[in-house]
Amino acid sequence: MSSQQNTKHQLRLGVFFQGVNSSTVWKTPEAGSQTDFASFRRLVQTAERGIFSAFFLGEGLRLREHLGQIHDLDVAGRPDAQTMLAALAAVTKNIGLVATQNTTYNDPADLAHRLASLDLISGGRAAWNIVTTDNSWTGENFRRGGYLAHEDRYTHAEDFVKLAKRIWDSWGTESIARDAKAEAWLTGQHPDPVVHQGQHYSIRYTSRLPRSSQGRPVLFQAGDSAEGRDFAARQADVIFSAHGGLEAAKTFREDIKARTLKAGRPVGAVKIMPGAEFILAPTPQEAVEKQWWVKEHQIGPQQAIAYLEQFWGQSLTQLDPEGPLPDFDPQIIASDVTRGSGFQNAKAIELTRAWRAQARDEGLNVLQFVRAKSGRVGGSFVGSYTQVAERLEEYAASGAVDGFNITPWLVPTGLDDVVNHLVPELQERGIYPSEYAGQTLRENLGLARPETSTLPRKNGNTWIEVAV
Ligand SMILES: Cc1cc2nc3c(=O)[nH]c(=O)nc-3n(C[C@H](O)[C@H](O)[C@H](O)COP(=O)(O)O)c2cc1C
Repeated sequence: MSSQQNTKHQLRLGVFFQGVNSSTVWKTPEAGSQTDFASFRRLVQTAERGIFSAFFLGEGLRLREHLGQIHDLDVAGRPDAQTMLAALAAVTKNIGLVATQNTTYNDPADLAHRLASLDLISGGRAAWNIVTTDNSWTGENFRRGGYLAHEDRYTHAEDFVKLAKRIWDSWGTESIARDAKAEAWLTGQHPDPVVHQGQHYSIRYTSRLPRSSQGRPVLFQAGDSAEGRDFAARQADVIFSAHGGLEAAKTFREDIKARTLKAGRPVGAVKIMPGAEFILAPTPQEAVEKQWWVKEHQIGPQQAIAYLEQFWGQSLTQLDPEGPLPDFDPQIIASDVTRGSGFQNAKAIELTRAWRAQARDEGLNVLQFVRAKSGRVGGSFVGSYTQVAERLEEYAASGAVDGFNITPWLVPTGLDDVVNHLVPELQERGIYPSEYAGQTLRENLGLARPETSTLPRKNGNTWIEVAV
């Protein structure tokens, strides 16, 4: 490898097995099960063959509804993330295992323990994608009901995450005696108790597990509000962003840099991996044809109408999919029509007026417009293997992102062409690793191992209590 290649910014890849979403094509014989272990194993092993850093599982704590009914057009069904990832740890060696888990409805000591367990089971490959949910409707499934207004979610999440970090960092690295002649199994470095009296939790907890080989799970964050970004700048290692276009990614990077510095952390402390869909083929022409095939299978007439209903806030069943967009403004309750979509839009009137103008100017009917509009989370890369590799080289040179989190449109074989054809092109260009840097996810993402807690330890028979 030339010295020029050595200096290039390397991208990393993750794969997001979405589980519940509108972009996974299921009306095709190649589509596999969304819930069978075999699908997850197939996808994670393909990703590992392609030196992917991370395998992500999303989470939704309630089935999505549309106009008061179970939303039956999209794929659904998500086995519990940590259970699934623990099973996948046994059939993989290097890839990071990321569980999306909610701070609003979990309990910090309990979740910290389960994630620490995954981190130990996997040999230091666990990560937590921190989400707060975008609605209180999900809360009806839990004992607190519709819980926490949006403005309180991140102050709550921050307390939660600080507690989890304290719990993970409370065992010293040399806590367990290695010498068979030692007097006790636990050496002098006993775990610190975590004592917290706060607005949301009152806890005195001594962690039941030692640290993993990467110290503690890697923290991802997904949530795009100003509060969410500040929270990530203070607490996260990686942001799973929705800003995949090159210009949007550059702007987002600058924004996160400023917030990270303000939070008193080094500017590169928070890595950024936008979500992205890849549609690849041997030639540019074939890629465009494939894109249309994918779009047609993702969005039929019913999906197009349902998509608009999310933003118009009402039933639009009278609308002709081959006709123009509705010529009236939405109802403001729009964000409640498809409950649990995760990406509901508060500026519905503004947005839909712009859409109507665009559809009219470009002569697009409902179906054509929705197919053109409904980009995937983050960005979209369509082209021949070489074209997309060239495009990714621009991203690597710009430094706008640290990699991408791919949302495959087909499960479980949707990564095959990325791994078989794109990855080798990226490796040749020196912008993608040719092997795993190490055993842990932190090593493979280039993240430092966090120090253990430096708080006072056991003093005689009493613990010195330190509030978080
Ligand atoms: C790229 C991306 C992926 C997300 N994935 C999930 C998910 O799997 N489950 C979930 O409950 N929320 C998910 N969210 C949304 C989070 O719940 C987030 O906490 C919510 O949008 C509210 O935060 P915000 O107002 O800062 O955006 C995701 C958000 C983004 C940007």
